[in-house]
Amino acid sequence: MASPSLTKLAYFALQQGKSIAGLAHKELSTKLMGLVAPEAMTKTKPIPNSLLVELRKSIAALEQVDWQEAEQGIYPTSQLFDSPWIEWAARYPQVWLDLPSTWERRKKKQTRNIPRKINREIYPDYYLQNFHHQTDGYLSDHSAALYDLQVEILFNGTADSMRRRIIAPLKRGLRRFRDRPHGSLHILDVATGTGRTLHQIRSALPEVELIGIDLSSSYLKQASRHLNSKSGNLAQLIRGNAEQMPFATGSMQALTCVFLLHELPRKTRQKVINECWRVIEPGGVFVLADSIQLEDSPKFEPIMEDFHKVFHEPYYRDYIKDDVEGKLLNSGFEGVQTGSHFMTKVWTATKPIN
Ligand SMILES: C[S@@+](CC[C@H](N)C(=O)[O-])C[C@H]1O[C@@H](n2cnc3c(N)ncnc32)[C@H](O)[C@@H]1O
Repeated sequence: MASPSLTKLAYFALQQGKSIAGLAHKELSTKLMGLVAPEAMTKTKPIPNSLLVELRKSIAALEQVDWQEAEQGIYPTSQLFDSPWIEWAARYPQVWLDLPSTWERRKKKQTRNIPRKINREIYPDYYLQNFHHQTDGYLSDHSAALYDLQVEILFNGTADSMRRRIIAPLKRGLRRFRDRPHGSLHILDVATGTGRTLHQIRSALPEVELIGIDLSSSYLKQASRHLNSKSGNLAQLIRGNAEQMPFATGSMQALTCVFLLHELPRKTRQKVINECWRVIEPGGVFVLADSIQLEDSPKFEPIMEDFHKVFHEPYYRDYIKDDVEGKLLNSGFEGVQTGSHFMTKVWTATKPIN
């Protein structure tokens, strides 16, 4: 590795580059949609300059924390640069080629256009939708291949930095188990998707056993390619519903869950949190990350309001007003702590020993 100051420079330059690329992509694709498929455009409020300044400040603060935690050794600095660049470059043209079908669905207000061949009976109804107007919803290899790159573009290159905010509280929560033998600790990532969070956890905690669960076998295949073709402990990936998971009560020392809650109806949110509580060992930690909410980030309200309109997010409006802390306490968790980082809020909670 280069000297710390060079590495720092490289990290901030990379983030700057990703931000410019993300903004340019969104600007160009929105202009093209306006020209080619104006009926697909969604009416949004213009973002005032003062809000843009706040957004930039918030991104800068996120990147500072991201860098500092790497410097403190919470995760290796190499993780800051660890994206599948060649794969993303190869897939970028597909992101553009996918746009016309997205516009067509937006135009026709089709939000439940998922592959015919899938067996609908094995999925909850709320899941069978084109979240983010994603072609095939979460239910095809095509969707899984584009997802990471699309999310990175959506958040101007900050998606991985936001996901990484779970690592410090996770490591703190696991301290309680530090006397256990290596390899006996289990961390389950709920709704693991393409496995970015598992990938990050593995590089910060190489000795733990990692398990990921998700409803989409296509996303899990993508996760498997990323995780299990590299060195490091084998991650177990299981297709299943977070509402009822195939794990024994108290079998995991920690659970993580990133960007799931806002895609669930309110009652299901509580059901999933209850199920997470069941699976965690008493004394274990639950680290949850999702979008910021209205109560703690009121200045970003216009962005949150537009988000559910521009990207098909049917439960987002309800989510931003939901009392997640109340739901954690309802399940039986205690010691809930929260923090916000740009567009992400993190909750940390413990399952009491008695
Ligand atoms: C927005 S993505 C987040 C994925 C990943 N955690 C990340 O950080 O990119 C939401 C994920 O939740 C999964 N999902 C949605 N409802 C689920 C449920 N009831 N049980 C398990 N997975 C679910 C989807 O298949 C998708 O992979």
